[in-house]
Amino acid sequence: MNNEKTIEWVKEGKYGYSLTIDQTLIPNEYKKIKIKDSTSMYNAIKTMIVRGAPAIGIAGAHGVCLAAIELKNESNFIEKLYEKIEYLNSSRPTAVNLSWALKAQKIVIEKYKDLSVDEIINKLIENAIRLENEDIEINKKIGDFGAVLVPKGAGILTHCNAGALATVGYGTALGVIRSVYKKDPTIMVYADETRPRQQGARLTTYELVRDGIPVTLITDGMCSYFMKKGMIQFVVTGADRIASNGDTANKIGTSTIAIAANYYNIPFYIAAPKSTIDMSIKSGEDIVIELRDENEVKIINDKPICSEGVKVINPSFDVTDNKLIKGIITEYGVFKPNELHKIFS
Ligand code: MRU
Repeated sequence: MNNEKTIEWVKEGKYGYSLTIDQTLIPNEYKKIKIKDSTSMYNAIKTMIVRGAPAIGIAGAHGVCLAAIELKNESNFIEKLYEKIEYLNSSRPTAVNLSWALKAQKIVIEKYKDLSVDEIINKLIENAIRLENEDIEINKKIGDFGAVLVPKGAGILTHCNAGALATVGYGTALGVIRSVYKKDPTIMVYADETRPRQQGARLTTYELVRDGIPVTLITDGMCSYFMKKGMIQFVVTGADRIASNGDTANKIGTSTIAIAANYYNIPFYIAAPKSTIDMSIKSGEDIVIELRDENEVKIINDKPICSEGVKVINPSFDVTDNKLIKGIITEYGVFKPNELHKIFS
């Protein structure tokens, strides 16, 4: 990927707007869209124009700036802004980075609530841009901590897209892969297709092909075949929410891969920033799993792939048990699932 941000605040006129890559169009079209109001930001998150836990967080932070601009002439500005924050928070339930970023904006509102509305808006924009820049730095640190764990010439399996597109830039799981590739160009990445929305096929291969990193696309059911053949030595995925005991929610299919990796004795790692860890919940049991539209499963290329009337359930994420995870790669280093409290102490 080039060094452009996946999502960024563009200063223009008095305040500016959010500019984001429309990820629903990739790989057929690379197009950026301007998001200029909080309802459009809510819809962009919900329809996955912007997706991936850290990118959703930044979208939320931008959504608060847009809401503040919309409400600037309202008499009860702060109260209405808090209502908009709740609305943005309801766009997708699983990735904790959304509520984490909204909370970061709430802290700004609380701190500067006695300033003028105009000054509050500028403080919110400043904070959103700070979060954007920090995200890239954090991912580079995750990449460097993870790179040393990967055996030379490894086949590396990843699921979904935890790349530059899922973040502001560089990526978490793909950040690890980018950092490994700099010192070992003999690696081979295996990217799972990731049904139903095909983030692996559409987005991960798009990023890796553009960076010249060797990648082989496989379908979701193929992982144990390649593991058994000895072609995969390392597995790394991202995360949407990590409970305090290390149980990890990530794209549906992740736990199947973790189970297979453990069966074949292949190390299974999660790469994620501190903002994805939710210390307020004890275990994966407490994670809300988003259920999405059944048409994501039933329809491919605008055509049904099953008989009309068939029952479909479409959970978007699953939870991988902590005991299947060898380590969680963060910007503070690599931790065992039961050591996460060390990052917060
Ligand atoms: O439904 P998505 O595409 O938002 O799901 C994304 C994932 O599951 C990613 O693996 C996760 O958010 C980590 S992104 C660095």
